[in-house]
Amino acid sequence: MENILVTGGCGFIGSNFIRFLLARDDFSGRIVNVDKLTYAGNAENLDGIAARYPNRYIFEQADICDPTAMGEIFRVNDVDAVCHFAAESHVDRSIVGPDAFIQTNINGTFNLLEQARARGDRLVLFHHVSTDEVYGSLGPEGRFRETTPYRPNSPYSASKAGSDHLVRAYHHTYGLPVTVSNCSNNYGPYQFPEKLIPLVILNALEAKPLPVYGDGTNVRDWLHVEDHCRAVWAIMQKGKRGRTYNIGGDCEKRNIEVVTEICAVLDRMSPVERPRRELITFVADRPGHDQRYAIDFSKIRDELAWAPRETFVSGLEKTVRWYLDNHDWVARVRSGEYQRWVDSHYG
Ligand code: NAD
Ligand code: TYD
Repeated sequence: MENILVTGGCGFIGSNFIRFLLARDDFSGRIVNVDKLTYAGNAENLDGIAARYPNRYIFEQADICDPTAMGEIFRVNDVDAVCHFAAESHVDRSIVGPDAFIQTNINGTFNLLEQARARGDRLVLFHHVSTDEVYGSLGPEGRFRETTPYRPNSPYSASKAGSDHLVRAYHHTYGLPVTVSNCSNNYGPYQFPEKLIPLVILNALEAKPLPVYGDGTNVRDWLHVEDHCRAVWAIMQKGKRGRTYNIGGDCEKRNIEVVTEICAVLDRMSPVERPRRELITFVADRPGHDQRYAIDFSKIRDELAWAPRETFVSGLEKTVRWYLDNHDWVARVRSGEYQRWVDSHYG
């Protein structure tokens, strides 16, 4: 892999992955970051990277659904591997407006697969980053395995499931060298504050209500984003082509526990008069809210010797610290100022 096309590299996980990969000793190639810069994409997440790695990193603002633009980017950069993060990623938005999810997650993935196929033997890998939500919802027992049947419940998870099927079909039909990863909920620096953990951190800092959907008993399996990046790179390097790998944190928590833990960490790091857990507010449930996700990651552990390293407490403390130290970033992503920053940097 000499020229890796990373899609969605200005989003939460993509930007962490680009920083992670450029800093490694076992990768000396180039990264071409393609991002449309939607509301969730923030070129500032990679501020300083182009200057630090002038011959190894380039940014292209483009839509993965655009065949002409993507064809040109593949050709000019002699792309030989793809790591595909770009997606519409927020379940609540997919309930209110599913169109963009179908467009980017399904049609965008289809377009990338076609561009990759056109590269012929030059393309050595198409890695597709997906979610555990494609498997649907669990009862109190059991965990998702790679063999669990797909049963997506939201427009978001259904669109990701559609993209996973396309990737698999391109391997089966055309022999495209693909790998797929289905990961549980991530948290860490640079996550857009619409997702549970950053939203609660920021609301708590501003003494605003902390919205917990339903009764707060829904369970997610939390993974620090750096552990996810390490897993993706392990799969790209050593994963068997045509295979799917589940990635999880072995860290099941009810939402109410997550929110309470964030309050406790904040009260320690930035004490205030009243405990922040008093801000917790139970609100109307999300329609079709999946009850429980949990990942069995024994396949990636046994085949590729990967396991999560960060504990929830240490990962949460680091994450809270990052949001405390980066209020300028927060203010910009929440305001129109970010668009002005993009315009001044990218015309
Ligand atoms: P994100 O919403 O933070 O970032 C998505 C990025 O994709 C943004 O930079 C956005 O500008 C870009 N993008 C969107 N539409 C585009 C288009 N049409 N063309 C080019 N770029 C476009 O998402 P994230 O949380 O970083 O998730 C990245 C990937 O990981 C997604 O595929 C998601 O399904 C998957 N995933 C996320 C999680 C999680 O907890 N966040 C867990 C498992 C899997
Ligand atoms: P989210 O971060 O949106 O991730 P996902 O829906 O992909 O799992 O939500 C994580 C969990 O937190 C999910 O069960 C919904 C819940 N949630 C709340 O209770 N309140 C909130 O304000 C948000 C955004 C999520």
